[in-house]
Amino acid sequence: MDSAPSHLEVRKDKTWGGRFTKELDPVVKKFNSSLHFDYVLYREDIEGSKIHALMLEKQSLISKAEADSIINTLDDIQREIEGGKHILDETYEDIHMFIEQLLIERIGDTGKKLHTGRSRNDQVALDMRLYSRRQASLILKKLEDLINTLKNLSYKHRQNMMPGYTHLQQAQPISLGQYLDAYTSMFKRDLNRLKNCCQTMNYSPLGAGAFAGSKLPLDRLFVAQELGFDGIIESTIDAVSDRDYLIELSSIISICMMHLSRLSEDFIIWSSTEFNFIKLDDSFSTGSSLMPNKKNPDVLELIRGKTGRVFGNLMSILTIMKGLPLAYNKDMQEDKEGFFDSVNTILSSLSVITPFLNSVVFNTDIMRESMQSDLLRATEVLEQLVLQGIPFRDAHHKVGKWILQAIESEKSLKEIAQQEGVNLEW
Ligand code: ARG
Repeated sequence: MDSAPSHLEVRKDKTWGGRFTKELDPVVKKFNSSLHFDYVLYREDIEGSKIHALMLEKQSLISKAEADSIINTLDDIQREIEGGKHILDETYEDIHMFIEQLLIERIGDTGKKLHTGRSRNDQVALDMRLYSRRQASLILKKLEDLINTLKNLSYKHRQNMMPGYTHLQQAQPISLGQYLDAYTSMFKRDLNRLKNCCQTMNYSPLGAGAFAGSKLPLDRLFVAQELGFDGIIESTIDAVSDRDYLIELSSIISICMMHLSRLSEDFIIWSSTEFNFIKLDDSFSTGSSLMPNKKNPDVLELIRGKTGRVFGNLMSILTIMKGLPLAYNKDMQEDKEGFFDSVNTILSSLSVITPFLNSVVFNTDIMRESMQSDLLRATEVLEQLVLQGIPFRDAHHKVGKWILQAIESEKSLKEIAQQEGVNLEW
């Protein structure tokens, strides 16, 4: 029997070779390949493919033996990837092609059936949703740890007074606990945003095919249920074209990094010789290669710096998507590197900030003593006058005058108020 004509063979490096008469130019091959970064999706790709195979079996599109063989071989491939057995470079176009080719090499025609009713467009959309969901739950967990740490520290320091600042000028006394509560409140908002986003994005694109669905009797709902989705994305065109969830997550990550960066900035200021509000633990600070005296808050500066990169990733994905006609365009392969980077960056930042906070020593005596005189309590005095019936604007003016007098005569606000017949209780 003649061997099959070459256009019916599935080539080692590409599964779509039928209509092509030439090999891909090596420069294009390298340029086109995303395997060196999208390999991180291998788990999601295999998870999705296994359920897709089960669905094909349920719908009698493949036999039980074929489904079993596909699933077992995919499990083997996963173990091998995790064992570092494969070189994931540009030899293959992407992680989806790589896994499918391995499958076909091992189980031949049965392997060729896996892609029935599926396109890489809905496949990659599924993988990215599964990846986003998994990473979001890791971020959630780490955010909860941070919030708990802040809550504990806040309780511990609920009575330790410090100057509060506006315009980086001493403004009113607050407790260190009150200050830490602000960050708890910010990170709780991030947590809620993340939870909401997880709900919004939890719909399955699989079964959308390239974009127009399929005439095959696929069961989209079965796949969605088996993969833990709340339903399917009804519009098959939207299912493959949508990257809103990546934009939303990138934006939530950016906001959370902005919060981490502000916290870092506060603590950098507090760790300066001039402030000396906190003492950095040796295991969370670094030295200078030249100046033996230095102890630097590198961890905090890195969080602040990485935040800039994460903002850049958000701008990238927004810009990549803004001009794309429906449905899939290869531009969308560029959704990954920046997003993976943002996810990894927030995970590593959260992993370091929580133990950092637990290691920091708060110099509460210095904080309290740094409250310059009793001028910081001017607002309290003003409110006392208001309670005595003086109109707010008049009271404000009056206390302002007392402050001036206090500064000029180097007296305390309390003394000046007393001279004016108002007794302050401190
Ligand atoms: N690697 C591609 C991506 O990440 C997979 C989808 C390819 N689809 C296609 N029609 N070429 O977007």
